[in-house]
Amino acid sequence: MITRKAIFFLALASIIQASDDSEAPDNKKSSIRFTPSVIDSYREKVQKMFYHAYNGYLDHAFPLDELKPITCVGQDTWGSFSLSLIDALDTLLVMGNTTEFRRAVSLVLEKARDDANVNVSVFETNIRVVGGLISAHMLAGRHKDLVVDWEGYPCDSPLLKLAVKMADRLMPAFNTETGMPYGTVNLKYGVHKDETPITCTAGVGTFLIEFGTLSRLTGDDKYEKVALKALDALWSTRSPIGLVGNHINVQTGQWTATDSGIGAGVDSYFEYLAKGAYLFRRPSLMKQFHEHATSINKHVRKGEWFMWVSMAKGSVSLPIFQSLEAFWPGTLTMVGDVQDASRIMLTYSEVIRKYGFPPEFYNIHNEEPGEKRAAFPLRPEMVESLMYLYRATKDETWLELGAEMIDAIESSARTKCGYATINNVKEHSIEDRMESFFLAETTKYLYLLFDPTNFIHSKGDQARILTSPKNLTCVIYGGGYIFNTEAHPVDPGMLDCCSVQAKRDQEVGVKQVNNGDEHEKMNRTEKGGEKYFENQYGKNENLIEFEVDEKLKKESEKRKIELEAEKVKENSHKAMLKVREILVRAHQKDEAMQRNGETSDSARKLMDQLYKAYPNHTAELENLNKEAIIEFEELQHLEDIRELVREIPIPEVFCEKCCVPLHEIVDSVVLRVLMADVYEYHFYPTRKTKFLHGPVCWLEETPRIEDDYKNEPPSVNTEKWNSPLFTSDQASLNDFIGDDLETVRKFGFKTLLAPGYKKLDKLIAGQNIALRRKKSWYYEV
Ligand SMILES: *[C@@H]1O[C@H](CO)[C@@H](O)[C@H](O)[C@H]1NC(C)=O
Ligand SMILES: *[C@@H]1O[C@H](CO)[C@@H](O)[C@H](O)[C@H]1NC(C)=O
Ligand SMILES: *[C@@H]1O[C@H](CO)[C@@H](O)[C@H](O)[C@H]1NC(C)=O
Ligand SMILES: *[C@@H]1O[C@H](CO)[C@@H](O)[C@H](O)[C@H]1NC(C)=O
Ligand SMILES: *[C@@H]1O[C@H](CO)[C@@H](O)[C@H](O)[C@H]1NC(C)=O
Repeated sequence: MITRKAIFFLALASIIQASDDSEAPDNKKSSIRFTPSVIDSYREKVQKMFYHAYNGYLDHAFPLDELKPITCVGQDTWGSFSLSLIDALDTLLVMGNTTEFRRAVSLVLEKARDDANVNVSVFETNIRVVGGLISAHMLAGRHKDLVVDWEGYPCDSPLLKLAVKMADRLMPAFNTETGMPYGTVNLKYGVHKDETPITCTAGVGTFLIEFGTLSRLTGDDKYEKVALKALDALWSTRSPIGLVGNHINVQTGQWTATDSGIGAGVDSYFEYLAKGAYLFRRPSLMKQFHEHATSINKHVRKGEWFMWVSMAKGSVSLPIFQSLEAFWPGTLTMVGDVQDASRIMLTYSEVIRKYGFPPEFYNIHNEEPGEKRAAFPLRPEMVESLMYLYRATKDETWLELGAEMIDAIESSARTKCGYATINNVKEHSIEDRMESFFLAETTKYLYLLFDPTNFIHSKGDQARILTSPKNLTCVIYGGGYIFNTEAHPVDPGMLDCCSVQAKRDQEVGVKQVNNGDEHEKMNRTEKGGEKYFENQYGKNENLIEFEVDEKLKKESEKRKIELEAEKVKENSHKAMLKVREILVRAHQKDEAMQRNGETSDSARKLMDQLYKAYPNHTAELENLNKEAIIEFEELQHLEDIRELVREIPIPEVFCEKCCVPLHEIVDSVVLRVLMADVYEYHFYPTRKTKFLHGPVCWLEETPRIEDDYKNEPPSVNTEKWNSPLFTSDQASLNDFIGDDLETVRKFGFKTLLAPGYKKLDKLIAGQNIALRRKKSWYYEV
């Protein structure tokens, strides 16, 4: 028997590895010996595979979304985002290609737009585009050259700005009765009035990682709130036996498809409960995950397979395995159920060994691929789980399965310009599509499987301390990366660099450190690796130095002085405007009196007084008077036209659903004012139309597209948006610095994990100087 060992590392990465290494299941011994050089050769194969596909995309398809790998042309699929390039950005960094990353980022910033008139999937846009941009933003800072021009990094960058814009375009989808989002949104116009309120479960519950990260980086909590609210609503609709269905009405909260399983339409909801709990220190999400997992084991699982069952009773409706379900062992590994994950993966591996690839559907009873669902679109879920399992167990079985997949893809899917979807896993026929997740996920996970020293696998023995532009101290690039469901890694440490929430937490951390009772516990963490601050300066040129307090302080003082000067300038500008306004009125008065044959020179008199009062400002006053005269003349002209218009006879017109704001049709301000008058005084009264200031009916205009869409984001600070999750859930510092596993179990976590790391950051914040001596945070219980 191997002693149970619980290790409290800085990083989640290492915790996953250490979480449970009691006896491994009976694996077939792998037939290849994975010596370092064999591992290297597979890593190189994956790298070549990635570049073949990536260059094929750039050469033949960019700026369209995807490459068609057989005909070697491009196509837009998910929304004209240059999707494959955005999805591939962070893979370039994982593979260490900073030059190409820099080039690709400038291409993305140049081409990507957030306001195309295109209907997009809220879910896909979030995980691929928002997720891809956030991750590229976060990882870029590891290399000094890449962020040198990005002011405000890591709380700001052009990539982050674009991610925010994209997320803002998705926000109107969350403006529903329940807070669960619509499935589709038009980037330019919002949610169509005929949009179906039916969304799949994953489409409701897969936002927290991206949106929470955005909130922490921008300091605007609205994104995290909408994601939590949607999760909350979903949780409240689970069945009495703890299952969720497949599709739900986001306005009424009624389930419309009640099949329950862990695959298509549901999968990443569970994944985000577990990952969200880690990333944002929300134990109640982990509790929800475990509750779901328990119900799934009880009702959905039959042996090592997962079926589709009715959510109310748990009776089997469909005995199939979907290749999407293969993410499950990876997630189980993350939460510490490594043995169970291994058993499930071994079962799945039978399917890979049989066909080379997992088919979309595999019928568990007759052991055949689903008839029309025998394709393999180069999906990542299987290799994703292999990566987690290998990190946790170091069992070469997982390398061998990965190697088999690489060889199968090479031999069956490779085309002259990319890699093709396998149309039928039995025949290995191919079809003309290469989804962007091949570049974002499949190649990345395969590469990481065969690159054990990649920075992504960091155990937290190296990190960087940064005083951010928000004057917060945080520890970044220390490992524990959490992947979103499109394999875009998020650095948990960076979440503490920018937000108000982080600031508050750090203050709490400082206070608790000063209370003294934490010193003892911290004492235990002094053991272990000496490398923590190695590379802090020098050595590795690529690591950026963030110790910039002094410069920042000077800049902020300079900025303060500038702001004050601006204010003075603004005030005097306001005063001048007032004077000009009075002058204009004086000219108008003169004009009106002169039209009546009377003499009047109030304007001249006023100027004389002004000259006398401000003898040193004659030139400015003269200019002011010139401007006043121009404005007066324009107004006079307008008034003259109005006189004329009042005489025009108005035709009988009927105009319905054709309101457009005038400023969209008419450039001239003068003409707009005139037209508004015409409508206000003539058209509307004659047709008994209630007058709305602003839009006017423009004759023979076709209906506006905008009128068919709702483009309001939800207002997240109303009563309706209060979620118990918003505030009460954050585990307190002491809870995670406890002595043993039990204290942590209490919060629904099975292993000690990221929250400990995060909370330690806060201690670090209070102990910045002392920590430099201590060097490392690591202990074993
Ligand atoms: C980076 O990517 C570019 C474009 O594919 C390629 O030409 C270059 O050789 C790559 N560099 C490295 C170091 O892999
Ligand atoms: C978006 O969807 C709406 C509603 O189905 C449709 O009327 C509109 O034409 C679509 N727009 C585009 C660009 O496809
Ligand atoms: C930054 O934080 C330090 C210590 O927490 C504080 O002394 C300093 O005034 C802060 N500077 C700014 C610009 O907020
Ligand atoms: C750290 O531990 C040592 C003994 O292991 C103890 O003597 C010392 O007081 C502790 N330091 C603090 C700050 O608690
Ligand atoms: C006007 O300017 C003169 C000389 O430049 C100066 O002596 C005087 O004080 C100024 N007057 C006012 C009212 O600012």
